[in-house]
Amino acid sequence: MQNRRPPAIDAQELFFKVEAKTLLDGVDLHADHGRMVGLIGPNGAGKSTFLRAISGVLRLQGGSIHLDGRDMQSLTSREVAADMAIVPQILPYTHGFTVMELVLMGRYPHLGRFQIEGKEDARIAWDAMRLTETEQFSDRRLDTLSGGERQRVIVSRALAQLPRILLLDEPTANLDVLQQLKVLGLVRELVDEGLTAIAAIHDLTLAARFCDRLVLLSEGRVLAAGQPNEILTTDRIAAAFGVEAAVYRDPNTGSLAISLIGPAEAHKPKANGRSACV
Ligand SMILES: Nc1ncnc2c1ncn2[C@@H]1O[C@H](COP(=O)(O)OP(=O)(O)OP(=O)(O)O)[C@@H](O)[C@H]1O
Ligand SMILES: [Mg+2]
Repeated sequence: MQNRRPPAIDAQELFFKVEAKTLLDGVDLHADHGRMVGLIGPNGAGKSTFLRAISGVLRLQGGSIHLDGRDMQSLTSREVAADMAIVPQILPYTHGFTVMELVLMGRYPHLGRFQIEGKEDARIAWDAMRLTETEQFSDRRLDTLSGGERQRVIVSRALAQLPRILLLDEPTANLDVLQQLKVLGLVRELVDEGLTAIAAIHDLTLAARFCDRLVLLSEGRVLAAGQPNEILTTDRIAAAFGVEAAVYRDPNTGSLAISLIGPAEAHKPKANGRSACV
């Protein structure tokens, strides 16, 4: 019998609720080593909650998470951070820090308790900034950067952690179209070299193009999981997002492309003939 390597992440039956609202309702999701998994689903589906759960930020009320076969509960937060980095959807409060200082924070899980960053850490931080083309901002305070520039710096901080697993929550939300392609292309390259990535992505065409598997979440549950062409069907897009879409193979990229035609009939906005703009 072949000895199969356990998945990089194996989350089973995750359950989390806040008062009466269930945010994760029995979510199963695994990511194999060297694969990129896309999390898709409408606003409020539970994508960020799921990513926060597997990064260890949330105290779950049910289920289990294994990293490379190790129960996450048996690992310290520093051990988890040495393996896994997260690029959050809501950029952290970074007032007063320079870009270099923030990216160097990515080195924290690899330092001893009272150890400060050394030359090697600075080199790794520079490499990470170079990858996202943010090295020219190294001395700038973060609050002087544009939204997209800041987002790329946060990606650099995660890369400076030299993680084996990278979680990205809407990493392209603030980026122009060129930078969207560059950041997802960079993650894809790192995945091809062995990184495991899970990324929440709203743009279905980008998700289909860069991810090996997609997991569709809705109301805290997994509606479907599989290869992009299995998941992104017109019926499923209508059911999950309330959008009428055309799905086709783009001859230019060779990937699946999703053209959003408009809200499905039941979701059309009703302005009652009045216009808010005069
Ligand atoms: N502390 C909380 N109390 C109550 N509801 C919460 C709390 N935190 C999150 N929620 C709700 O849980 C649901 C899932 O939130 P989550 O941020 O995971 O969604 P998401 O899929 O990431 O959405 P988006 O695409 O908008 O980023 C949302 O309806 C949100 O309002
Ligand atoms: Mg979110």
